[in-house]
Amino acid sequence: MDLKERIATELIAARRRSVGLTLDALDEPDLVTQVSPLMSPLVWDLAHIGNYEELWLLRAAAGQEAMRPEIDDLYDAFEHPRAERPKLPLLTPAESRAYIDTVRNKVLDSLEKAPLSGGRLTEGGFVYGMVIQHEHQHDETMLATHQLRKDGPALLDPSPAEPPAGDVALAGREVLVEAGPFVMGTSDDPWAYDNERGAHTVDLPAFFIDVTPVSNAAYLAFMENGGYDDPRWWHPDGWDWRMRSEKRAPAFWRREGGQWVRRRFGRTEPVPPEEPVQHVCWYEADAYARWVGKRLPTEAEWEKAASWDPAAGRKRRLPWGDDGEHANLGQRLMRPAPVGSYPEGASAYGVRQLLGDVWEWTSSDFRGYPGFRVFPYKEYSEVFFGTDYKVLRGGSWATHPMACRTTFRNWDYPIRRQIFAGFRCARDV
Ligand SMILES: [Fe+2]
Repeated sequence: MDLKERIATELIAARRRSVGLTLDALDEPDLVTQVSPLMSPLVWDLAHIGNYEELWLLRAAAGQEAMRPEIDDLYDAFEHPRAERPKLPLLTPAESRAYIDTVRNKVLDSLEKAPLSGGRLTEGGFVYGMVIQHEHQHDETMLATHQLRKDGPALLDPSPAEPPAGDVALAGREVLVEAGPFVMGTSDDPWAYDNERGAHTVDLPAFFIDVTPVSNAAYLAFMENGGYDDPRWWHPDGWDWRMRSEKRAPAFWRREGGQWVRRRFGRTEPVPPEEPVQHVCWYEADAYARWVGKRLPTEAEWEKAASWDPAAGRKRRLPWGDDGEHANLGQRLMRPAPVGSYPEGASAYGVRQLLGDVWEWTSSDFRGYPGFRVFPYKEYSEVFFGTDYKVLRGGSWATHPMACRTTFRNWDYPIRRQIFAGFRCARDV
């Protein structure tokens, strides 16, 4: 497949996914209501995807005039925080559909003539890759919105495939990553974001890292051991959060008939002990790690364990190599796979499930790499640099493979639990 064919195929696949999560899943009233102040009404995400595509692929890349300049402000994520989006005069679901379809048809027409070289924006199809990834990133956000919905019928196919068996005997097991330098970030992945660039050498002391993410069973042991009641395990800000929020379990869990159950897309089911824990915030992950005598990995440690091939002395784009799919990504399952799944997806160090299943909290703040340069706009990453956000790595079951690789960086506030996030632990040697 040549690059233009691949771009067209990926654009179409992303759109099928977006429509499946919005227009095909819900009726108009549910598309326009806001289920949580943390999220937009789904109809906002849908038209925003089209507006972003128009801005970058029709105006910036193809030099076309704005189609509807009066709506740009409505769909600018920086003009209107999520909490105020339902009050805006948004396009209706039918108008949104018509708008995104018109944009898409023009994009596919202009793609035939588009140069994919000669400028940084179009070189290697970067701007198309950016728009495809953006759409998939919003699709993951839409899934988080669906998960937050408190009432109404159960939605979405709960199990499109049978989960693999996993290997719970690996839970809590560690591997040693030897001291020494590795290459962090990338300078040659054509569709990587500015915050993943450029490739630079980082020299790390030796460390141990868990083979699997922390399971629900292990997290439950922390809860039953009084983990939520003992300030010794908590970061001071985390203890503050714990006291103010009165949380004592991951989001969407509750106690029912002597057991823990969870709500997943409108269905209630027993908490599966073998799955990686998800919907915990950074403070909870940090407290668990201290309770078990470990700590969260730094983002550099995570990336070395995920991408470095010490025998070959080179970096892998994916833990298992440079291509193929050995992970629970892109809604392969509508939940994390049991810990120890996908042995063929292990990294060179034998670490499993680094991509997919759950985003993994790291101990690191979100910052630019040495020599960071904004590209192509500062609101993608640079405005979030600093100490407010913690980095998450590896993607979840809801992350599309197009927007996931060992260098990919995500970030969120340490109190956030609506994202599909869990963690694994590490420790010094
Ligand atoms: Fe966006």
